[in-house]
Amino acid sequence: MPPISNLHVSDLNTMNLDNFRLQLGGKEYVPIVIGGMGVNISTAELALSAERLGGIGHISDAEVMFVCDQLFGTSYVSEKRKKYADNINNPDKSLVQFDLEQLAEAQKRYVSHTIGQKSGNGAVFLNCMEKLTMNNSAATLKVRMEAAMDAGIDGITLAAGLNLRSLELVSGHVRFRDVKIGIIISSVRALAIFLKRAVRLNRMPDYIVVEGPLAGGHLGFGPDDWQTYSLKSIVAETIEFLKKENLDIPVIPAGGIFTGTDAVEYLQMGASAVQVATRFTIAKEAGLPNEVKQHYINAVDADVEVNTASPTGYPMRMLKQSPTLRYTMKPNCEGLGYLLENGGTCAYIDAYQRALESKAPDGRMTVTGATCLCTGMARYDCWTCGSSVSRLKETTNRLPDGSWQIPTAEDIFMDYLLSEEHAIRRPALEKQP
Ligand SMILES: Cc1cc2nc3c(=O)[nH]c(=O)nc-3n(C[C@H](O)[C@H](O)[C@H](O)COP(=O)(O)O)c2cc1C
Repeated sequence: MPPISNLHVSDLNTMNLDNFRLQLGGKEYVPIVIGGMGVNISTAELALSAERLGGIGHISDAEVMFVCDQLFGTSYVSEKRKKYADNINNPDKSLVQFDLEQLAEAQKRYVSHTIGQKSGNGAVFLNCMEKLTMNNSAATLKVRMEAAMDAGIDGITLAAGLNLRSLELVSGHVRFRDVKIGIIISSVRALAIFLKRAVRLNRMPDYIVVEGPLAGGHLGFGPDDWQTYSLKSIVAETIEFLKKENLDIPVIPAGGIFTGTDAVEYLQMGASAVQVATRFTIAKEAGLPNEVKQHYINAVDADVEVNTASPTGYPMRMLKQSPTLRYTMKPNCEGLGYLLENGGTCAYIDAYQRALESKAPDGRMTVTGATCLCTGMARYDCWTCGSSVSRLKETTNRLPDGSWQIPTAEDIFMDYLLSEEHAIRRPALEKQP
């Protein structure tokens, strides 16, 4: 494509994302990245659709042992629960540890299952949330990253929590310099701190995802001040900062990019690709059950809230109707336990203990202040979404029975790629039986 400076304004108006390519590690990709969505919302099938179409798809390793049990019939969760059965009524979970060999085995199984099905020119990356501290944060993170590299993952996106030691942890791995490593940041300040460490290892990130305040999942902003930030400004500051530091690292904005034209605007600013997720939550290939996809499409703005229910301490955007917000269940750390801080604590355990202590005489109890996100995400009961969720209606067809047609990932991907002037092309109307 010609350099932007040689183009006329009228060209810019009719540009689409297909006029751009992401250059990463000597390879060229369609500049669409489907963001990681745990737990198994961004399935292998979803990630592989992006890969087949020349873009980049993420799988997520959130609760990977649970995901393997669902996909491959293993019994990691029940074995772990059995091992720690005597601890189930104990609010002190310090004893509950993941078996690192089993963790590596599950990670390799899940990643190679996905990588083995690649058929296009794109790539499959792993979203690796560092807030999944698993009661042994450094050791489990090292195992997760190394096992993913062993199994042939193309790239690892370090998310939620950004552990400054993460690069050091895997610096001895043979693929340390060949696997693509990216980071998700929400401020130049966080980026600068991470880069200081990276410089010492002479291993800079290969790409930087700048996630703004309108994204789904956990947010890197305060619960009360996220409205005061804008993705456009943070992207502009990041590009400016990298230029000043003489660093040529692709910048990938994320959060609220709803049309192909929204994406083009970022590429014209100097971004290299975009990361999107909410529009893909309703794809056929996405892991959410069909009823939940229908809830997402039916959502209106008033249904969306940014709350502090996640025990991670990070604000999270979700639909108010999320069943997880009404949980009163006993913590299931013996089976899951992915959010246990080192030392075996979790804000949900504390909230549950408080609720037990003030239980009504008839046995009713209400847990307030935190939800069990391990169970909530595993059961698809936490309906996290980007702020644009209420616009999903614009992207598909209403069927005669009142439900919504579920588009394929390819429908959504191609709409992002070819859309001009903010137009959204709905999928071809599904034939009714
Ligand atoms: C359902 C859902 C689950 C998500 N889960 C994760 C996750 O596990 N890890 C992560 O880093 N980001 C997660 N995100 C954030 C996305 O990867 C992505 O960066 C962001 O949502 C992009 O904004 P958009 O949804 O407005 O397109 C999630 C987003 C959604 C909608």
